[in-house]
Amino acid sequence: MRKARMPIITTCILLILSLAGYLVFRKDSPQKIIPIQTDKGKAAASTVSSDTITNDNTDSSGNHTYIPPSDEYDDNNEKSEEDNMSNNRPTPTPWTPATEMDLDPKSITVYVNKEYCLPKDYVPENLVIPNIPFDSNGNSERKYMRKEAAEAIERMFFAAQEDGITLYGISGYRSYSRQKDIFRNNIVHKGKKHTLKYSAAPGTSEHQTGLAMDVSSKSVHYKLVTSFANCIEGIWLADNAHKFGFIIRYPKDQYKITGYAYEPWHIRYVGEDLANYLYTNNLTLDEYYNYEPSEDFDYEKKYADLINYKPPITPTPIPEEELEEPLPDLTDEELEDTENDDIEDGESDDEENGGDLEDEDLDSDASKDEEADDENTEDENIEDEVSDMPDDESQDENLDNQSPTPTPPAFPAPTPTPVPTETPTNPDESEPSD
Ligand code: DAL
Ligand code: ZN
Repeated sequence: MRKARMPIITTCILLILSLAGYLVFRKDSPQKIIPIQTDKGKAAASTVSSDTITNDNTDSSGNHTYIPPSDEYDDNNEKSEEDNMSNNRPTPTPWTPATEMDLDPKSITVYVNKEYCLPKDYVPENLVIPNIPFDSNGNSERKYMRKEAAEAIERMFFAAQEDGITLYGISGYRSYSRQKDIFRNNIVHKGKKHTLKYSAAPGTSEHQTGLAMDVSSKSVHYKLVTSFANCIEGIWLADNAHKFGFIIRYPKDQYKITGYAYEPWHIRYVGEDLANYLYTNNLTLDEYYNYEPSEDFDYEKKYADLINYKPPITPTPIPEEELEEPLPDLTDEELEDTENDDIEDGESDDEENGGDLEDEDLDSDASKDEEADDENTEDENIEDEVSDMPDDESQDENLDNQSPTPTPPAFPAPTPTPVPTETPTNPDESEPSD
């Protein structure tokens, strides 16, 4: 009889041991990962100790009571585990509008305007040249964009090409110092009124973020002109840019809000969510961030040195040999002879003529300075051509002379784009494209 009970007792002991072992295993199980909300409303994975999970059968006195799960040996157990695991993965949070201004230069939604400027030394990381057609050959700073913006513009230009639209990149990234050259040159050549409407002071340009690109087309001779808005390329851009994460940053009739006149060519990458939001709600980035100029902010005062800049007139150094030589000590007789010579040779006006020549030299030197400035600021030429008066005939008259050599589209076009045969007008850009 005793022998007969032994297996039952052994089985009971084994069962008790198994149960005890299971309980120990449950208590030491790994920490769970659950998604939490960050300040910015984005989901992030965070390791949370099991003690912080409230639904853990802890009673009011803090004692843990083990309650076996009802489906512990359920056939669906494996599937439930999978479900739990996928639930524990951070789920993408639906995009929600920002609640405060984004002033992080590295962020794709950064806000930059006349008041909120970028640090002087800010240079974006990951600047690359997008594989898109440009208005010129060669490698230059203005072709660069931040990688994420470059990839988006490649997709956009490709989609445009599929619709039979060829867009060209004109001016992308600009360093602080180049923006300064451009702005100053615009002040000198275009005047204060025009410059303040179309050109940003250094540190206040979105081009410094690497997220902006000025776009044009052959139909407007690769110019940045308001009439770009009315050609098929400009219309396509306005209708489609948001699908690729871009906005027309300075829309028509929004000068009071954006601080700039209509620039149908200036696109700014903000990411697809925000671009769609702004497009759908017909908002500028300024309205989105509820921008109101600070009471004590005075743009013209802050940039007064540049806005009121007058180019220095540098007198041409006169070669020493051309300087009037000291009169030799002459005898009265010799002096009389010299005066007579002057009259005979008709050279009595020499001194006056010399004065005129000096003036001419000064003028030509001033133009040389301007040319040197132009070379340093190739985009000035581009931005210079933007006019308040887009219907001005004189603007078009200059177009043919100044048309740059376009780079053929970088991707297959439905209709082959003829390879340009013109010689580039800017010698700096005559290098063959890679
Ligand atoms: N044209 C825009 C405002 C810029 O210069 O950044
Ligand atoms: Zn621009």
